[in-house]
Amino acid sequence: MLLHIPQLLNPEQLAAMVTRLSNAGDAWVDGRATAGYQGAPVKHNQQLAEGSAPARELGDTILAALERHPLFISAVLPNRVYPPLFNRYAAGMTFGNHVDGAVRLLRNGDKLRTDVSATLFLSNPDDYDGGELKIEDNYGMHQVKLAAGDMIVYPASSVHRVEPVTRGTRLASFFWIQSLVRDDNHRTILFDMDTAIQRLNATQADDAARRTLVGCYHNLLRNWTVT
Ligand code: NI
Repeated sequence: MLLHIPQLLNPEQLAAMVTRLSNAGDAWVDGRATAGYQGAPVKHNQQLAEGSAPARELGDTILAALERHPLFISAVLPNRVYPPLFNRYAAGMTFGNHVDGAVRLLRNGDKLRTDVSATLFLSNPDDYDGGELKIEDNYGMHQVKLAAGDMIVYPASSVHRVEPVTRGTRLASFFWIQSLVRDDNHRTILFDMDTAIQRLNATQADDAARRTLVGCYHNLLRNWTVT
C-alpha cells in the first residue's frame, strides 16, 4: 500500500526544520555513507551525518509527530521506527533504482526489519524541478512529489528511485518502520477495516454489529502481529 499522509509537520515546524538543515554545514556528508553494496553505485546525494546533533534533534520532532498521527498509526501499525535521516539533492543529483536493505542496525546494536519505507518531503515542490520519487509496485509505476510537510509511506520491498534534480534543491527526510504486521496485504486489510469502523462509529449505527467488527479487527491483528 502506498499512502499519502498530508501535513505531518505544521508550517512552523517545517520552516524551523528547513532553516536548521540549510545551516547544518559540515554535518552534510556523501549519501553513500548509509548505502549498501546495491545502493552505493546509484546513490548520488548528500545526507545529514547519522547521529549528528541536527539529525537527532530534527528526527525527534518527526518521531513526536508520528506518535500523534492516527492515519500513520492505522496504516503502518508501527513497532519500531528507525531514527529519521535527512537528504539533500542539488541540481544533477539522483538516486537510481534500488530496493531498501531489509535489516538496519540501530546505534544500540539492535536490528530493525524494514517493512515500510517513508519519505517526508521538506522542500516546496515549486522550488525544484525533477526529484520525483518513483515507486514500482504490483500495479505499476507511481510518481510522487508532495507538498512540503507531506509524507508517503510504501512497502520497503518495492523498487524505487529519485529522478535527477535539474533545478533548485530537494530536501527530505527518510526512514523505515518495522511494523507489528509484516505482510503488506495484511496491513492493507487492517487499514481498510479500521477506516470503515471509524466511519461507522461516527454514524452511531448498530452498536452490536460495530462491536463485533472491532472484535474481528483485533482478532485479525492478534493473529498477524509479529514482534
Ligand atoms: Ni530507498
